Amino acid sequence: MKIAVLRETASGERRVAATPETVKKFAALGAQVAVEQGAGVAASYDDAGYEAAGATIGTRAATLKGADIVLGIQGPDPADLKDAAKGVWLVAGLNPFGAGENGRARVDGYAAAGIEALAMEFMPRITRAQSMDILSSQANLAGYKAVLDAAAEYGRAFPMMMTAAGTVSAAKAFVMGVGVAGLQAIATARRLGAQVSATDVRSATKEQIQSLGAKPIFVENVAGIEGEGSGGYATEMSEEYQKAQAELVSGHIAKQDIVITTALIPGRPAPRLISDAQIATMRPGSVIVDLAVESGGNVEGSVAGEVVEKHGVRIVGHKNVASRLATDSSALFARNLYNFLSTFWDKEAGKPVLDEEIGDAVRLTKDGQVVNQRLLG
Ligand code: NAI
Repeated sequence: MKIAVLRETASGERRVAATPETVKKFAALGAQVAVEQGAGVAASYDDAGYEAAGATIGTRAATLKGADIVLGIQGPDPADLKDAAKGVWLVAGLNPFGAGENGRARVDGYAAAGIEALAMEFMPRITRAQSMDILSSQANLAGYKAVLDAAAEYGRAFPMMMTAAGTVSAAKAFVMGVGVAGLQAIATARRLGAQVSATDVRSATKEQIQSLGAKPIFVENVAGIEGEGSGGYATEMSEEYQKAQAELVSGHIAKQDIVITTALIPGRPAPRLISDAQIATMRPGSVIVDLAVESGGNVEGSVAGEVVEKHGVRIVGHKNVASRLATDSSALFARNLYNFLSTFWDKEAGKPVLDEEIGDAVRLTKDGQVVNQRLLG
């Protein structure tokens, strides 16, 4: 059983899908691990560390030759895997709903090339799969970093400070979308001393917001208020709800210094939460961080990969925020992949054998076909 770890080629991607820690663990399972030269350098994991953990280091072609499983953060070009074994597993974040050439089109390419592609973002949200969930591990770090990015752009301080020269008032931070990233953003903004409020369409988040010491801002008495669909994800809201939410947010946002938006709906463009007119009501110098910018954006005017200024308000649209903390995000991602493969490791077969519940959820392609229900349905 040979496991290959590739150097990521997508622009701006600093993460790596295995660390010396997980290499050692895979070796303990009896796997041979090959790591492409320099694969971990951008995340501060050098080749010597992988070698010391038991991996071989080589060119991309040597790494892939005869590989049974290829680990990645993002999916490589299907043609890249031609030297791997027949029916090779590709285990990575594969962006199956993505529109561009590295999204759905690439999944079709994996099918045509006979690759068995396993998309880690399709991991079901069940208790036993929590330790395998790349969306959670990466969103957590992104939520933290979003607040630091906001603080870096903000020309004022977060905490209240009483100084001999007078008082600096605490920043008011508003978090929109209280999933994994939003909860971490609330906790981080609180630690920095901001006064924090937050909103979500899922009413279950109200208590979570309160338990972190923040104030919930919620639409009340509108049909469809629970907002929760399958797997704990949000559903698209009724027009009535969206209107009530926009009104509530308008009044609140005008008084905020920092807004962090994280709202996503799987398989659909991100909901628009902040309009240009609302931005115009904010105080100059305020900062908005749009963590959903790559899924269409929660904020009107946000631009992926840029910090833009509208009405004196800075709108931060960094791409791939987890990659901005590449050492930690790689460590967590790598453990997610290890937890996934080791959970299903069949000692006799010397390889992982997936069960139906998780296997069918993550498997996109097999035997030359796209087989995943979420892509076929
Ligand atoms: P997500 O990344 O899909 O969305 C982020 C947040 O935006 C969600 O809280 C969603 O409700 C919210 N949102 C969507 N539309 C919105 C709108 N129009 N206005 C305001 N907010 C909006 O969600 P994430 O972070 O992946 O987590 C969703 C839930 O799944 C959480 O309750 C989390 O605890 C749960 N979860 C469970 C796991 C497990 O059991 N294995 C693993 C990961 C998450």
